[in-house]
Amino acid sequence: MFAAVKNLARMVTGPIGERGLGQTARSAVRVHFARRQERRDGFDERHGTDTNRHVSLGDLGATGPDAFALWRYAPTLVSPFRRVIEELPVAEEQLVFVDLGSGKGRALLVASEYPFRRIVGVELSPKLHAVARANLEKYRSSSQRCHRFELLCMDAADYTPPPEPLALYMFQPFPVDVLASVLAHVESSVETLPRRVYLAYMNPLFDREVMATGAYERWKTGRPESLGEFDWTIYRHL
Ligand SMILES: C[S@@+](CC[C@H](N)C(=O)[O-])C[C@H]1O[C@@H](n2cnc3c(N)ncnc32)[C@H](O)[C@@H]1O
Repeated sequence: MFAAVKNLARMVTGPIGERGLGQTARSAVRVHFARRQERRDGFDERHGTDTNRHVSLGDLGATGPDAFALWRYAPTLVSPFRRVIEELPVAEEQLVFVDLGSGKGRALLVASEYPFRRIVGVELSPKLHAVARANLEKYRSSSQRCHRFELLCMDAADYTPPPEPLALYMFQPFPVDVLASVLAHVESSVETLPRRVYLAYMNPLFDREVMATGAYERWKTGRPESLGEFDWTIYRHL
């Protein structure tokens, strides 16, 4: 009971503490419209998966990283995600796709429709990680072009990216200190083994921090095409 009250309070104060009132209000409006678009898209009905955001009464008892995921988890909408992926030279550069904060795996599943070399999901919450695993098993699509998945349950702040050319993806996953660690790991990996790295960022709240590293250029940007969508930016490592 105490955990549930604490979690409910966190769901309200967490986003405000991290993003401020204005940004939280804007996100809440988008999430409301995104849920309507979700229902129209019917991704889970089509593919037999569970990638939607619902918080049940049972979930409110969550502890540790699972509690953190309660307010943070929301799946990427399929159509803007496809628009982002289709800007990347997926086949030409034989990229490994890495979703940093992969949640229930929606972005991993949609990415598997493209000819990535491999697909990696990094997720902090054991509960969401387990749902993503089950989704990979259940997912059925005749147009799937990549079948090599790796799901990791860990803090993205400790993650060292693989040695291939990379398409990193983030949908407002974590606070700025975690982002700084992620970018530092990418930097030392690229210094050791220079290669092409793209960072696709949906709702790039920490754009300034990415650019302040001096290691990226804003390569392509996109605007929302409906009320439930966000801006996005693809950065290219210099
Ligand atoms: C907005 S959701 C995005 C889910 C997924 N990428 C998608 O687009 O469908 C952000 C996810 O990041 C996860 N997350 C938060 N902090 C994390 C961290 N430090 N390391 C790894 N995952 C994290 C949350 O649990 C949540 O599942």
